[in-house]
Formats: sequence, C-alpha cells, structure tokens
Amino acid sequence: MMERDSFRIDLQFHPFKNSEYGLLDILKAMEEKHLDALGCLEYNWQRNVSLVVVREINKEVKKNYLVDDVDGNLFFTNKKTGRVLCLILGQEVASPNQEWHFLSIGALGIMSWQKPEDIIKEILDKDGLVVFDHPFADPQRFFAGITKQKEEKLFLLCEKYKGKIALEWNACCLPRLRKILPFYGGEVNKKTEELARRLEIPVVPTTDLHAMNKDMLSAMGTCFIEILFDGMHCEKILSVLKESIFSFNFESHKDYVSFSHFFSAFAVPYIKSKMAAG
Ligand SMILES: [Fe+2]
Repeated sequence: MMERDSFRIDLQFHPFKNSEYGLLDILKAMEEKHLDALGCLEYNWQRNVSLVVVREINKEVKKNYLVDDVDGNLFFTNKKTGRVLCLILGQEVASPNQEWHFLSIGALGIMSWQKPEDIIKEILDKDGLVVFDHPFADPQRFFAGITKQKEEKLFLLCEKYKGKIALEWNACCLPRLRKILPFYGGEVNKKTEELARRLEIPVVPTTDLHAMNKDMLSAMGTCFIEILFDGMHCEKILSVLKESIFSFNFESHKDYVSFSHFFSAFAVPYIKSKMAAG
C-alpha cells in the first residue's frame, strides 16, 4: 500500500538501451524528484527505446528495495524509508507511416496498425490508458505543426473517443524555439489545451524524457500529474489513474525542459540521423 495521500506521476519516460544508467539510477531520480510513479514507455517501431533497462532488477536494486510485480507493473519499496515507487510499463505507438503517436500506458504489445482507430482499440481492449501524444506536433514533419487537413482529422478522432482518450501537453515542445522557427506551427501545447477545452477532454502534461544518458535523468518530472487518493492499493493504480484523469480529478504540473536538454535529446540525434542518411 502506498503511504502518501497523493501520488505524482510523470507519464512519459523513454529508457534507452546501452545508456550508462541502470534501474537503480532511475529509482533514485524518481525519489529526488518526489515522483511516486513513472510511465516507462518503449517505442513500438524502434528497438533502442526499450524496457530492457527497467526490467534489469539486479543485486543493487534488491539490496535497496523490495520488488513486486503486480499485473506487469513494477513496485519498489525502499527498505530504509518504506516509500513505494511504481513503474507502469507501456509503449509509445505509431502506425507504419508515423501519422500520429499514441501513448499506451499499462498495455504492451500494441500492433503498428495503419489506422489510428485500430491502435486506440487495441490499447483500450488491453485496458491501457490511451494518451494522444503531442497531437499538434507532426511526427511526419519532425514535429512541426500539423496541417489544416490533419487538424480536421484530429478533431474528428477526439470527438469520437471523447471520454476514452486524454491529450498530452509536451515539455519538449519549447514555445520560444518554435516562435523563432515560424514554420514550426507555433505553440502546439496551447492548441492542445484549446481543443481539449472545446471538447472537454483531459490534458495530461508529460516530460517525454528521451533518457539517452544518465545526465538526462535530471529532467525527469519536469511535467507530472498529481492525483489525490486515500489508501490506494498497488493493484488499482492503473484504474485509479484512468478514473482520476477522465473525471478531471487531478492536478497538472507543467513546465518545459531546458534548451540544452532539448538540444542534446532531440536536435543532435536528429542532425546525426540526417547526416548518416546522407
Ligand atoms: Fe515520446
């Protein structure tokens, strides 16, 4: 049983393979950032963003924490303080053409369906929480703003799945940077909030932390949501999370990552991939 009367969760953390940190570093970062839970998400299209790191429960972790696997989510009780940390495992899911990105919180093995409706259906069928990731930043255009045509499609999807999906507010969509790059489509988080208000859909802020190395763990918890609860049991964490989000019964903590974090986590890898592609 968790001890605090609220829990804080950052829903979007991407562990990378062959980074120089391990599970113990992730748990320590959570404690430092006063997070109780973390959505650990692999990609369903790229293998270097993987849950291998969070599943590596080594001697050092066991020395410091009691470990429980409850319905596929991992709970760690600090042996000294009794504090419980939870890792909710899931995926970031895209269709083969990268039309949209969805977060599947608490559900794994989602197929790379062509149609967004099929992706949403499979996550819901597996009892996961569906979050429409940075809906106004287009993965097909290196996260520049979506076209008018795509905006219309987004509106229809949100209308159709109202009450079943949340929209994401993204800590890495830096407004100052997007402002000096006008073709980037302005403040996408503002647009997300406007759409959410219009359709009465919840917005959840997440850090979208691409943790490529240990230093980057310091950005964890830049965004999180805080949910009030009274004596919640571990087995219920996902259902409490969904109920709280869809009843708008949570607090949002929004902020942006630093420019240097953005640069090393997104801009540098992008430039490198372009150079490698020739
Ligand atoms: Fe992401």
